[in-house]
Amino acid sequence: MGWVHRRRDHGGVIFVDLRDREGIVQVVFNPDAGENVHGEAHKIRSEFVLAVRGKVRKRPDGMKNPALKTGEIEVIVSELEIMNESKTPPFSPDDEEISENVRLKYRYLDLRRPVIQQNLFLRSRLAASARRYFEQNGFIEVETPFLGKSTPEGARDYLVPSRIYKGMFYALPQSPQIFKQLLMVSGFDRYYQIVKCFRDEDLRADRQPEFTQIDVEMSFITEDEIMQIMEGLMAAIFKDCLGREIKLPLPRLTYQDAINRYGKDSPDVRFGMELVDLTPIVKKSGYKLFGEVAASGGIIKAIKIEQADGLSRKDLDGLKDYVAVYGAKGLAWAKVNASDWTSPVYKFLKPAEVEQINRAMNAKESDIIFFVADKPRIVNDSLGNLRIHLAKKLNLIDPEALAFVWITEFPLMEYSETEKRFVSTHHPFTSPFLEDLPLLAGNPGKVRARAYDLVLNGSEIGGGSIRIHRKDIQTQAFSALGLSDEDARFKFGFLLDALEYGAPPHGGIAFGLDRLVMLMTHAESIRDVIAFPKTQKASDLMSDAPSRVSIEQLMELSLKIV
Ligand code: AMO
Ligand code: AMP
Repeated sequence: MGWVHRRRDHGGVIFVDLRDREGIVQVVFNPDAGENVHGEAHKIRSEFVLAVRGKVRKRPDGMKNPALKTGEIEVIVSELEIMNESKTPPFSPDDEEISENVRLKYRYLDLRRPVIQQNLFLRSRLAASARRYFEQNGFIEVETPFLGKSTPEGARDYLVPSRIYKGMFYALPQSPQIFKQLLMVSGFDRYYQIVKCFRDEDLRADRQPEFTQIDVEMSFITEDEIMQIMEGLMAAIFKDCLGREIKLPLPRLTYQDAINRYGKDSPDVRFGMELVDLTPIVKKSGYKLFGEVAASGGIIKAIKIEQADGLSRKDLDGLKDYVAVYGAKGLAWAKVNASDWTSPVYKFLKPAEVEQINRAMNAKESDIIFFVADKPRIVNDSLGNLRIHLAKKLNLIDPEALAFVWITEFPLMEYSETEKRFVSTHHPFTSPFLEDLPLLAGNPGKVRARAYDLVLNGSEIGGGSIRIHRKDIQTQAFSALGLSDEDARFKFGFLLDALEYGAPPHGGIAFGLDRLVMLMTHAESIRDVIAFPKTQKASDLMSDAPSRVSIEQLMELSLKIV
């Protein structure tokens, strides 16, 4: 039984490729099979649903199809039932160039495409593998509510109006963060959940408004222990789903090193091309711009591509527009020759500077060096992204490589220019390094968090932290965030209360399951690993959500659209 993938009428003999989730088999309708079979077979069209019975035989020599798993055999049909017909579908499961809007409108047909089916099979194996690992390691899965209190963690909440309490709202959880901490207070010790999370934020290729986390929390635990247990999880998943061995322990980088060397806190460490800080060399440079930037607290950093003959002058000039997106006001470049540079800035630099830069960059003839001088954030952002852009363009990345790296020692808080206050880098329950506590009141930007992210091939696949389990420290953290006692009580009162009833030290982590599947399947978009995703604009083209609701529904909720 299955769907008609393709039908060919060879004047007499009719061939049908019959498809189910396992693949395709060729079934053959011979004229001598009679009117009920061969006659009926003339009605068959693409995507009809058939049941056939017949004899499996070896295909005659010359008719074998080595490209097909079942290419050596075929079924000679003796009975046929057309179980259902199909309208001509807007696209066939083989089509490759289908616009995504059409695919999403007919998602149930799109899900017939083998690529997407394979992605979902892998997703299912991944969830099963994770559950197996957690069960073997003494974790219990606990479900937590979807209708909860609005406690913004960074993104915007999705709100759900209450019918019974007019004018009041539930919020869908951005993550089960507070509930899993409460479970630790209750003594569950090792919790996990594969759970939907909801965030009303601007979407990107690797973000969805509802996405799935593999969520974990543990009591009486240190960072090292959590990382070790989670490395075991990664090893199990990659072994079970892809048959790949991961070498443990995974490497670690501090946040500061990641920014210094790769310009990003989610560095792609599959290739080198690290950022080099040239500020000490060029701060007194003959090139005025470099000197001025250094004098005003900025930095000058560079990256190098080796043997860069593949890049034309036009390519080089085009890269200036690429970094402009990240705020860079310019991109200086230098092609290294045997005894000098070809470069728009060469004439400004002293020979000794050129010599020192060559040495710092370990530059050889035919290499190209790119420089950005600006505020540190802009320099790191633009060179960090340029590094990846160039590596992709020049094919420097091995697509099969699995480069994991833990990022540690994040800053606890960052100053937000828009909110004019410090905001949590992770969330407000993250524990500071205890030795940094004295800085919390006066210099919160300098306090390190006991937080860690796991990065795979340049993508943040998970993040977590050791939590604050004492109320006095939690209160200090809220006050550094500019949250008044009253605000904190209103938003997180129940958590603050719980911390006063014997909260054990605890910590945890959450992985983005969709992102993991994306990386494992090499999917271009997160939408290709989710059965029924939303578009980039957060809509569902198939069911037409979001949609208007009736005036009666609104009245029942005491809501009025203005
Ligand atoms: P965080 O916010 O870092 O941590 O989320 C954990 C992981 O979830 C994935 N992720 C997403 N995936 C798809 N679409 C999104 N919109 C999206 N947002 C996040 C990322 C990310 O690493 N409660 C904490 C975890 C903890 O501290 O234990 C949390 O939610 O892969
Ligand atoms: P100019 O002196 O403006 O002609 O610039 C000389 C070179 O320096 C050009 O290649 C510019 O792209 C580059 N440049 C300008 N501003 C910066 C900057 N902030 N960082 C790096 N290079 C820059």
